[in-house]
Amino acid sequence: MKRVLVCGSNGLLGQRLAFVLDGEPEYEVLHTSHQRSFVSEQSLFDYTQLDISNRSDVKSLILSYRPDVVLNAAAMTNVDHCERERELAWKVNVTGVEHLVEVCRRINAKLIHVSTDYVFDGKYGNYTEEDRANPVNYYGKTKLAGENVIVSSGIEYAILRTILVYGLGVNVKNNFALWVINNLNDGKQIRCVEDQTSNPTHVHDLAMAMKSVMERDLSGLFHISGPETISRYDFAMKAAEIFGYDKSLIIRIKTSDLEPRAIRPMNTSFLIDKAKKQLHYNPMNITQGLMMMQQDLTGIHLN
Ligand SMILES: NC(=O)c1ccc[n+]([C@@H]2O[C@H](COP(=O)([O-])OP(=O)(O)OC[C@H]3O[C@@H](n4cnc5c(N)ncnc54)[C@H](OP(=O)(O)O)[C@@H]3O)[C@@H](O)[C@H]2O)c1
Repeated sequence: MKRVLVCGSNGLLGQRLAFVLDGEPEYEVLHTSHQRSFVSEQSLFDYTQLDISNRSDVKSLILSYRPDVVLNAAAMTNVDHCERERELAWKVNVTGVEHLVEVCRRINAKLIHVSTDYVFDGKYGNYTEEDRANPVNYYGKTKLAGENVIVSSGIEYAILRTILVYGLGVNVKNNFALWVINNLNDGKQIRCVEDQTSNPTHVHDLAMAMKSVMERDLSGLFHISGPETISRYDFAMKAAEIFGYDKSLIIRIKTSDLEPRAIRPMNTSFLIDKAKKQLHYNPMNITQGLMMMQQDLTGIHLN
């Protein structure tokens, strides 16, 4: 039986990992996150608080639990917040990763980590794992620095870069699809950029890819995203269509119409051939992903 430690279990990906790994007889899983308690039904999962930016806590927990694999879904993910709170962003996205690497090395554990399309400058799109990273904002810089810590460490690792993750979770940060659905459900107008394109990724596909990397014991860098490249505006229109909301509430704008604190890369689409080949990764298209979200929402009142 493999012992698995998950970091960031209260986040969108962390919660999905809990359900994907639940009941798998070959894994014993300990879920951890920054907050004291687990947002999901406590009794079903083993959970303990762990702040990855606290070196001594990381050391003592991991040295006593002695996992074979650490799945790191913990990060500071709000792009504008990272731009403002640089010290904190570095502490979680880089120093936190250094702590995990240090202890994984000591017990010979494998680290499976998640990174982002924002390591790219977005000038060309269709990025492969071989393309040169060149982040344009602080979040991207911290995530690339976190990757570099792992790659240069000499430990066993896999890094999964992903894009615009969407799906449902308990008290999760507003992801783009959820923001669109919540606003349209309330009859509110939203402004969506037509000039930022990428491959939205359903959180279930990402969690399954992470599990697959662990099961197949693969190493290295993988691009994990949805199969379709789409602008945020078109993605919102698609969500309105599937959920039956009023499309006229969606206003088409350009990035230059906004004043985001952090610069956004324009086209960060991925090529996912490596993942398809090595993981047999076969992600949902956008219609399927949004329909899965709709099913998950059944019975939940949005207001
Ligand atoms: N969401 C996207 O669109 C997207 C796109 C590209 C890449 N990614 C990457 O995918 C991964 C998962 O993202 P996500 O969408 O699941 O993010 P999320 O919903 O924001 O979850 C991140 C979790 O990390 C935990 N965390 C933050 N600081 C921590 C610390 N110091 N110690 C321990 N836990 C800490 C938080 O836990 P608490 O709630 O307990 O405070 C939070 O629940 C991240 O590496 C992110 O960079 C995400």
